[in-house]
Amino acid sequence: MSGSDLTRRELMEAAVVTSGALVGGQLMPGAIPPAAAQGAGAAPAPLGVALRVNGTEHRLTLDPRTTLLDALREHLHLTGSKKGCGLGQCGACTVLMDGKRVKSCLSLAALVEGREITTIEGLAQGDELHPLQVAFIERDAFQCGYCTSGQIMAGVACIKEGHAGSAQEIRDWMSGNLCRCGAYDHIVAAIQDAARATGAVRGG
Ligand code: FES
Ligand code: FES
Repeated sequence: MSGSDLTRRELMEAAVVTSGALVGGQLMPGAIPPAAAQGAGAAPAPLGVALRVNGTEHRLTLDPRTTLLDALREHLHLTGSKKGCGLGQCGACTVLMDGKRVKSCLSLAALVEGREITTIEGLAQGDELHPLQVAFIERDAFQCGYCTSGQIMAGVACIKEGHAGSAQEIRDWMSGNLCRCGAYDHIVAAIQDAARATGAVRGG
């Protein structure tokens, strides 16, 4: 393995855990800046919101129009979840809510009080990566890494839902998560590996 390969792999491993190493919080073309996403009118009165994220409760004071994605990224500094379209169309912002996948750009933070939110930062158990994070690294299932946290969170849900029985089934149930780099074959292979590793499907 060359030095440049090693460096790339190290960067990729960081991307799988936080999805922040490669893009540094920069938005991709077409992304909506946080300020613009809040609208141009006068701000309504701030609201106290208790968000439970990755097992920890956070008490925030938010503009009631704040999306869950912006609360995570701008207020809790959990920047693994990405803002691609801000319109529910790309899946880069996917997180788990009570174990089910949701697009956090479409959820208002004030409306998810009491729900258990899991982001890519909360997926590993201590130093032990989730099997799908391991599979993404082993399958080299990303290039720029911008979609990766959303793909992994959606993939975790896809496996748990029992929708990882075949490559075509995975493609169908992952169709809400776009990859501009076209890493789909590797993403599907990684999900199949993780599904086998977790016993969700049989076969080798
Ligand atoms: S940012 Fe694209 S679906 Fe949420
Ligand atoms: S790896 Fe670049 S968008 Fe998916």
